[in-house]
Amino acid sequence: MKLLAIETSCDETGVAIIEFKKESDNFKVLANLLISQIDIHKEFGGVYPNLAKREHTKNLPILIDKSLEKAKLDIKDLDAIAVTMGPGLAPALWVGVEEAKRLAKENNIPLYGINHMEGHIYASIVEEKKKNEYTVTKPKVPALALLISGGHTEIVFMPTLGKYQKVGETLDDAAGEAFDKAARSLGLEYPGGPKISKLADNARKRGAVTPENIRLPRPMINSKTLDFSFSGLKTAVMYAAQKNEINNELREVFCMEFENAVTDVIVKKVETAGFLYNAKTLIVGGGVSANTHIREAVENVCKRDGMDLYLPKKDMSTDNALMIAIIAMVKIQNNTEPDSNLNLSAQSNLSLGAK
Ligand code: KG4
Ligand code: ZN
Repeated sequence: MKLLAIETSCDETGVAIIEFKKESDNFKVLANLLISQIDIHKEFGGVYPNLAKREHTKNLPILIDKSLEKAKLDIKDLDAIAVTMGPGLAPALWVGVEEAKRLAKENNIPLYGINHMEGHIYASIVEEKKKNEYTVTKPKVPALALLISGGHTEIVFMPTLGKYQKVGETLDDAAGEAFDKAARSLGLEYPGGPKISKLADNARKRGAVTPENIRLPRPMINSKTLDFSFSGLKTAVMYAAQKNEINNELREVFCMEFENAVTDVIVKKVETAGFLYNAKTLIVGGGVSANTHIREAVENVCKRDGMDLYLPKKDMSTDNALMIAIIAMVKIQNNTEPDSNLNLSAQSNLSLGAK
């Protein structure tokens, strides 16, 4: 079967085409294209929804044509179309949803609406066997997923694969959003995560120690819940940056302290969740899971507590359409009915197993 997937939930326009058999965990990637809007949103210090919509509208048809060309397929050769229906920015999501509905209707192809966060989970559990050939692995259950991205931060319990119960979430900013906003206070460009990470590394390499006067809080680290709060941390960076004259060296120390603070909180919540849910596996997904310091810290916890750990390859940690294609493939393999073209709508707050 051949399936085309569309992703437009935030600032990446993605289109992927995969080929798979109904009874096999293996699949082939025939095309996987992405146009990032990062350079356009940089000016605004974050993603600007209507600008994202404009860029998706411009780029999506181009990417669909290019993907079909790369896969040497005609639209009529497709057996299914999948599209991210949420969560994400409503104006951005609608571009993908409308285009997917139109293509499905005009060509009489079954249509599947996909949850972006489920995509991030599966992006971490696929394994590339050889170039462009992947397999979906079967992590041990019960499992936990830690989803840390620019728009979301949550812990999801999976008694079995494909069953979700949200057990913790951020009460305000997402982890990636905090990275981006803290970076902005420190004079660094959007997206802030990779830049903070690089400068934090410099500070660690030269053995820098955080002075007491710029130590940052670890919000909710001692709360009994699995919830997070990152907005206070972001504000603390903002005030501290205003109070101190920021030279390059101090900026690096700030980055290190900020990254340490986020990591400490994440580690504590993962430890607690692992214990409470007797988890055999931890799956980490979302853009922030590209962060080396956080990756190493969760690796240590999992080793110590005997949990198998699944981390996405770096190109699968940020948004892409391949992860959306994988979820649709699994749905088809499980005989899930397609969505009705008329009823499918973008849902910016779509949740994975409401709390
Ligand atoms: O999952 P994603 O691509 O988009 C959303 O669905 O939100 O995540 C983007 C977020 C941004 O906030 C970005 O700063 C963050 O992921 N990010 C990182 C790193 N690379 C990307 N945060 C920390 N360290 C990184 N290396
Ligand atoms: Zn994402």
